[in-house]
Amino acid sequence: MGAIADHVADREEVPFDDLPGFPAPSVPGHAGKFVIGRLVGHPVVIQCGRVHYYEGHDAQTVMLPPRTLAAYGAKIIIFTNAAGGLDPAMRPGEVMMVEDHINFIGANPMRGEFDARFGERFIDMSAAYDRGILRIIEEAGSRVGLNLLRGVYAAVSGPSYETPAEVRMLRLFGADAVGMSTVPEVLAARQRGVRVGCLSLITNRAAGLAGEPLSHAEVEREAKHATVAMGNLVAAALPQLIELAGR
Ligand code: HPA
Repeated sequence: MGAIADHVADREEVPFDDLPGFPAPSVPGHAGKFVIGRLVGHPVVIQCGRVHYYEGHDAQTVMLPPRTLAAYGAKIIIFTNAAGGLDPAMRPGEVMMVEDHINFIGANPMRGEFDARFGERFIDMSAAYDRGILRIIEEAGSRVGLNLLRGVYAAVSGPSYETPAEVRMLRLFGADAVGMSTVPEVLAARQRGVRVGCLSLITNRAAGLAGEPLSHAEVEREAKHATVAMGNLVAAALPQLIELAGR
């Protein structure tokens, strides 16, 4: 979903390889770089690619990119991810604005020695996904003709996809979409007081709902398909986001 980076002007690229402690993403379709510059005139950093818990990295490594952005002064981070739709009404290609999450990774990534440079030990998560950002993105969606869903994102560790029984459980627990990322990064951002928005691209119906097997190829195909629409959405929301960041 990194195509938006192609529209960044006055750009400078920083590969993760150049940054101490940053690992190179190992998943096909995930680049590993920051693109820094201006998008429709506004200052942005686009992170192309991420690393995941399931790649075997420890939580500190997974949280390093948002911590780096926060340390350099990022006020808002809009996360994107691919997710399976748990709500039977969801169709591949739809975009869900995350209103809240359930951490089913099996560990809390914040566990461990406390380092006050990263923020507080006990992080308030009662409104992790910023209401102002949700409103701005929803309005931008109606301007670019993208109907956005809202819902709860459940993060699992992966890398296996869920069983149909796990999908039924997640649905019963109140989740609308399931994926293998983002929650550690959101925790790290919230710890530093960065305002967070998150867009989940529904790349597939969750296991057991479509009657066919799940594949990474399908997830990649849908993500490629939606990359322009996601970019347009973020670009359309940017002026209001920048204004919010300045408040
Ligand atoms: N489950 C977990 N992660 C995912 C899925 C899924 O169905 N689709 C994309 N990422």
